[in-house]
Amino acid sequence: MSEAHSTSLPDAIRQRRSVRGFKPEAIAPEVLQQVFELAQWAPSNCNVQPWQVYVASGETRDTLKQRFTEGVASGKAMTPDIGFMPSLSGVHRTRQVECAQALYGAMGIARDDKMGRMRATLRNFELFDAPHVCFLGMDKSFDTLMALDVGMYAQTLMLAMTAHGIASCAQGSMAYYPNDVREVFGIDDNIAILFGISFGYEDTSVAANEARTIRAPLAESVSFRN
Ligand SMILES: Cc1cc2nc3c(=O)[nH]c(=O)nc-3n(C[C@H](O)[C@H](O)[C@H](O)COP(=O)(O)O)c2cc1C
Repeated sequence: MSEAHSTSLPDAIRQRRSVRGFKPEAIAPEVLQQVFELAQWAPSNCNVQPWQVYVASGETRDTLKQRFTEGVASGKAMTPDIGFMPSLSGVHRTRQVECAQALYGAMGIARDDKMGRMRATLRNFELFDAPHVCFLGMDKSFDTLMALDVGMYAQTLMLAMTAHGIASCAQGSMAYYPNDVREVFGIDDNIAILFGISFGYEDTSVAANEARTIRAPLAESVSFRN
């Protein structure tokens, strides 16, 4: 499917999920253009559009994948511009654990299988074999307020992908080696890399893609008042 004619917005919202196993086929350049053009219509505070997006395909993608996997294998320090995920507690920790259980369960990784979990984590740096990965950045002087806009952009982009039959996985882990991303793309040092999105066509034979997450009941997140 190259044109997003048939997917309704509710369908796209429900169909999008994190896919962690991709077919090697690249997405046609004209489809890439359509998808990223659509995502440009994301809203932002005062229409500042702070997102800077770097899309790696072909050799650029191969180089980054190689750098990431070699970095992890050699124990190279991870230096995310915006830090690591904080440790969580309470309901947020519970949801985080449920999310991990869904993934490891689908992959057949037992609770005490540390090596299996490590291998699953390493798949991030192999881009889950996706033929494309994009990195979402913004000026380093911007803070939370502008990061909201980049988040808006990211979901708009992933929904645009879904509507075009393209699978994706947002990855905070794609921000762990930001200097490699800046070097390979020739990005100015004043751009922070916030996260990445691996994307391509889903390989439905990959066990990890059987994982399904749930959502909290509406009342846990949303309050209505008249
Ligand atoms: C900002 C962000 C960072 C994420 N980072 C990772 C990651 O590094 N690796 C990964 O496998 N999934 C990552 N995810 C995917 C989440 O685990 C996933 O969105 C969540 O569990 C909900 O599942 P769903 O996307 O299938 O609906 C990330 C998602 C977001 C929004």
